[in-house]
Amino acid sequence: MSDIYLKFGDCNTLLKELPDKCINMIFADPPYNLSGKNFLTVKNGKITKCNKGDWDIIEDIHLFNEKWVKECIRVLKDDGTIWISGTLHNHPSIGVLLKKLNLWIINDVIWFKRNAPPLLSRNRLAPSTELIWVASKSKKYFFDYEKAKALNGGKQMRNLWEINAQRHKTIHPTEKPEILLERIILIASKEGDTVLDPFTGSGTTGVVANKLNRNFIGFEINSEYYEIAQKRIGLKNDFNNYSLTDQILKKEQLTLALERKELYEKKQK
Ligand SMILES: C[S@@+](CC[C@H](N)C(=O)[O-])C[C@H]1O[C@@H](n2cnc3c(N)ncnc32)[C@H](O)[C@@H]1O
Repeated sequence: MSDIYLKFGDCNTLLKELPDKCINMIFADPPYNLSGKNFLTVKNGKITKCNKGDWDIIEDIHLFNEKWVKECIRVLKDDGTIWISGTLHNHPSIGVLLKKLNLWIINDVIWFKRNAPPLLSRNRLAPSTELIWVASKSKKYFFDYEKAKALNGGKQMRNLWEINAQRHKTIHPTEKPEILLERIILIASKEGDTVLDPFTGSGTTGVVANKLNRNFIGFEINSEYYEIAQKRIGLKNDFNNYSLTDQILKKEQLTLALERKELYEKKQK
């Protein structure tokens, strides 16, 4: 059974509760800063304002990104990978940061949505992709190449992923498709590993991590989305009152005690 920790609050504060190098894989779907009061888009066939919420309006996107990316790198294991999604609104900033922090950029995955909504303003090409940066601390990182190949019907997987936008399961405006997270988590982690999502939203990463027997740590700043994620992941206990460090340390102590007990029992035989 996997351990799931979901905390309500600002990831910049909550990340500080985690010890160094404790996370195998990070998926971050941060605010892209693409919302604008006068921008229009099409949703479910209807014209609507392209405003994801106040959380998506950030004054200095580069300063914002630098803060959380640095903390994520601190908690990432030496052989772990970080996957960060974005569009042209934030991915230049993330790319520059990854370079500035001396990270090894493994891939830029292009997620192509064939069913992306049409463009209303006739002043550019219709956006139908997102970019996912994949990076690590060194050239030695965990990456299940064979799993990726198997997921692609036995053929080498390329960095262009065609996955349609799916009907949302919650009211969250930017819920990611579970199938996208399945692919990422299967390629970048093993059963029993710990996956972190600092911007949990509706909980997609947690749902998939749990299903694939990975431990999960997630943070969400919006109370409504936090509750949605809790329900969606199927959390019965509200762990929000416990410090993450305490929970993780307690679990480590328990594992150690069980190992010692096993060793002791073996010696007695
Ligand atoms: C792009 S959405 C993530 C959607 C998610 N991947 C899903 O599938 O539902 C980003 C989320 O980050 C949250 N958020 C924004 N700033 C945050 C912060 N500083 N700490 C934690 N969560 C934050 C927002 O409330 C929003 O739900």
